[in-house]
Amino acid sequence: MRQKSTSKIKNRYNRISGVYDSMDKMIKDSWRQDLLKNVSGKVLEVGIGTGANLPFYPPEVHLTGIDFSPGMLKKAEEKMAALDLPYQVSLIEMNAQEMDFPDNTFDYVVATCVFCSVPDPVKGLQEISRVCKPDGKIIMLEHMRSENAVVGKMMDIINPVTVNTWGANINRRTLENINKAGLSIEEKEDLVFTIFRKLKIKPNK
Ligand SMILES: C[S@@+](CC[C@H](N)C(=O)[O-])C[C@H]1O[C@@H](n2cnc3c(N)ncnc32)[C@H](O)[C@@H]1O
Repeated sequence: MRQKSTSKIKNRYNRISGVYDSMDKMIKDSWRQDLLKNVSGKVLEVGIGTGANLPFYPPEVHLTGIDFSPGMLKKAEEKMAALDLPYQVSLIEMNAQEMDFPDNTFDYVVATCVFCSVPDPVKGLQEISRVCKPDGKIIMLEHMRSENAVVGKMMDIINPVTVNTWGANINRRTLENINKAGLSIEEKEDLVFTIFRKLKIKPNK
């Protein structure tokens, strides 16, 4: 079941990879910059997509970016080549729900607008906790179901359209999923009412 939904979502991202950058205007560059300004050491970005965060990492990081969509990764590679980045980057095709990295590998794990799409988000969150060092940090900028009753209901109604066109669930209850995965939220900032959230999370060790 998980395998079937994983290949379905992966195919949707492959299909839209060519036009993704022109469609995606949800996250402001200033939010990305603010999220990433203090990351250091070995950094994993899960669901790196077309590489929208690449211009905003500090120069001293060693970045590993994974995505399960080869189409999205190809766009990230093109962006990387065009930007001539001052830090080391490895881009790898990999499923965030079953990563090949050993336990306790990364100082930071980054996710921006990813857990709306990961087919089994609780498994994905447990995996990022596993590969994060015990004193490492997981930082996220994610959109999720609004806590406003009317807006939340509207998101439930529109959700089948967004999942079937580009693979994103706009009504994901990501805070609940983080709790289900056993992780603790250390800092939470609401953006655009409660639709976007900037989160700092402690791995479950
Ligand atoms: C909405 S896009 C966001 C891309 C990028 N993080 C950004 O901020 O623009 C979600 C990305 O997550 C990737 N993704 C979703 N589920 C994944 C999984 N299980 N493993 C790896 N990548 C995944 C998709 O292929 C897609 O590139």
